[in-house]
Amino acid sequence: MSANRGRHFLQIPGPTNVPDRILRAMDRATMDHRSPEFGRLTLEILQGLKQIFKTTNPIVVFPASGTGAWEAALVNTLSPGDEVLMCETGQFAALWQRMAGKLGIKVDFLPSDWRHGADPRAIEARLAADQGHKIKVVAVVHNETSTGVTSRIGAVRQAMDRAGHPALLMVDTISSLASIDYRPDEWGVDVTVAGSQKGLMLPPGLSFNAISDKALQASKSAKLAKSYWAWDEMLASNKAGFFPYTPATNLLYGLREAINMLLEEGLENVFARHDRHAEATRRAVRAWGLEILCVDPEEYSSTLTAVLLPANHDADKLRKIIVERFNMSLGAGLGKVQGKVFRIGHLGDFNDLMLCGTLCGVEMGLESAGVPYKKGGVDAAMAYLATATTNQQQSVAKVSVGLK
Ligand SMILES: Cc1ncc(COP(=O)(O)O)c(C=O)c1O
Repeated sequence: MSANRGRHFLQIPGPTNVPDRILRAMDRATMDHRSPEFGRLTLEILQGLKQIFKTTNPIVVFPASGTGAWEAALVNTLSPGDEVLMCETGQFAALWQRMAGKLGIKVDFLPSDWRHGADPRAIEARLAADQGHKIKVVAVVHNETSTGVTSRIGAVRQAMDRAGHPALLMVDTISSLASIDYRPDEWGVDVTVAGSQKGLMLPPGLSFNAISDKALQASKSAKLAKSYWAWDEMLASNKAGFFPYTPATNLLYGLREAINMLLEEGLENVFARHDRHAEATRRAVRAWGLEILCVDPEEYSSTLTAVLLPANHDADKLRKIIVERFNMSLGAGLGKVQGKVFRIGHLGDFNDLMLCGTLCGVEMGLESAGVPYKKGGVDAAMAYLATATTNQQQSVAKVSVGLK
């Protein structure tokens, strides 16, 4: 079918498009993971990652999807029966909460309507009421990939400080790292959870924990069972550039390239590029007369936009038509919003024309599926893209130094 010719448009909010430069970097013979050359590669990557994570703290890399890094964050810091405060921002927060329950952790799950981020005032109230400091961790998903809502981590930190509560702050940045501004050291984040397959532009298969001194201290007395995920063994082996088990060698070649690409572009430019594509997308959605799931403009996500369809219109049917006719995958509505929303991913290795193609696919799909909409969404996005410049374009020549 003609729709299958050309390059597939992978516009789900991760895994994202893997740039050719990264594919070429991984297309190499696998090396001995106990060789000096491999040790040097790891040390170079662990150093480079600190710039991407904006932290001076150690970062560990697991050969696992993001779910593994969720588990690692919990089992290294908590003991059976400990309490954790989590915020129901959407499906991924719900899954993390379910995992905590399975591990024998007690979860206080702050409810939400899936249209807002974590509420700093509600967090402050819960912590202030916890006079005995039973809550050991506050865990927040920075960018809720199921809803396109970004929580304000700096404000969560301020709320914790106002309550004078000593809980650790744990943040899932799986769909925000290397795409949306994130400052773990400034915001006092104790454990950052991240994955390879979104802003880092890699295939799925690597995940990360960045670990503060306070979290490391907590890990020394944490009693939950752990072996594969244990930070102490990983950190000890990492000192010389090695792993306690076989690492995902070829993904690490790709990771080195991804770090180089992000540092060459400059992280602030990467963030500005994502902000700009998100704004163009929202302009298209508004021009179509459709509703953005995220209610508060301060919480709009720069990596994806979840779009509500009018009642009695099935978002999954729309997505099916779009993939069959235009060879483009969009994100499905998950959990409570299944069938009600579709999600446009605009993150990773992405540019203006890719966004225009994506929005054309959506606009044609709305027409084909008989969804009531107004024409002109693509025009609105193009008008914005043609005039709005970013730091990126103003400083093309200003290339920061990457890794070798
Ligand atoms: C915010 C968030 N957290 C956690 C996960 C789970 O990660 P994985 O599917 O890589 O295990 C995802 C996956 O998309 C996610 O978007």
